[in-house]
Amino acid sequence: MQQIALLETLQPLLRTETFGRAIEGHVSTGSTNTRAKTWALEGADEGSVVVADYQTAGRGRHGRSWTAQRGRNLTFSVVLRPSLPSERFGLITLAACVAAAEAIEAFTAPLIPSIKWPNDVLLCERKCCGMLLESILPGNSEASEAVILGVGLNVNQDDFPEDIRPRPTSLLLETGRPVPRAPLFARLLQTLERRYTSLYEDDGQDIRCVYEDRLSGLGRTVTLRLTSSTRTVEGRMLGITESGALQLDTKTGLQVFHAGEVTTRRHAD
Ligand code: BTN
Repeated sequence: MQQIALLETLQPLLRTETFGRAIEGHVSTGSTNTRAKTWALEGADEGSVVVADYQTAGRGRHGRSWTAQRGRNLTFSVVLRPSLPSERFGLITLAACVAAAEAIEAFTAPLIPSIKWPNDVLLCERKCCGMLLESILPGNSEASEAVILGVGLNVNQDDFPEDIRPRPTSLLLETGRPVPRAPLFARLLQTLERRYTSLYEDDGQDIRCVYEDRLSGLGRTVTLRLTSSTRTVEGRMLGITESGALQLDTKTGLQVFHAGEVTTRRHAD
């Protein structure tokens, strides 16, 4: 496999115990999530990372594709082997969003990233980072169940296809300066490891708190488009439940949602 320059710069900066200690770098691959799944089934340890300078079949949530300019962004996947009950796997996404927001902030201050429930990190109210969490069920494999956390972070992308709505952004576009990828990647692996590990310490209490501190729309009336449906629900956003679900105060009372797409008026474009 051809080595990518990003990895050579990353190695001396890495401050983690496990995340990124086993790492595979691709000049180009279909999807890092797909490659990480294969590696997990072959027995990859928790924290193993697949990163690519370019993906030819990058995947987003809800069956969408994820495209990113070659060599300018961070597109990677982490193999996780959580021992949390599966109904709490949603907390992993929350932890990953908090970790990404913290790492991004170190490079964008005074701009402060916020979070759009459940999986998006926003900068100046536009999406700069998304997560895709996929579970692998044991099946016939000898390996234990794993979860793949895919992260797509727009770092130095300077242009996006016109048809993406709402309009995404990148760290470069919002700060007006290029951001070095390797230090950002090293920081992100460190915050991911720390926030993921903390889920075992207090049942995710702290994560929910810091997630809500950054939650876009908290306390405001938002519209939620339910996944696999054209139905929408409007309500005031009250916060996040213990399993990471969204709580809305709707005209028919308090309701909890496990999936969906939140829009605020600002993002109708
Ligand atoms: C979303 O916001 O829809 C989630 C986007 C996740 C994209 C990342 S890029 C690295 C990893 N590999 C993939 O194919 N997808 C995720």
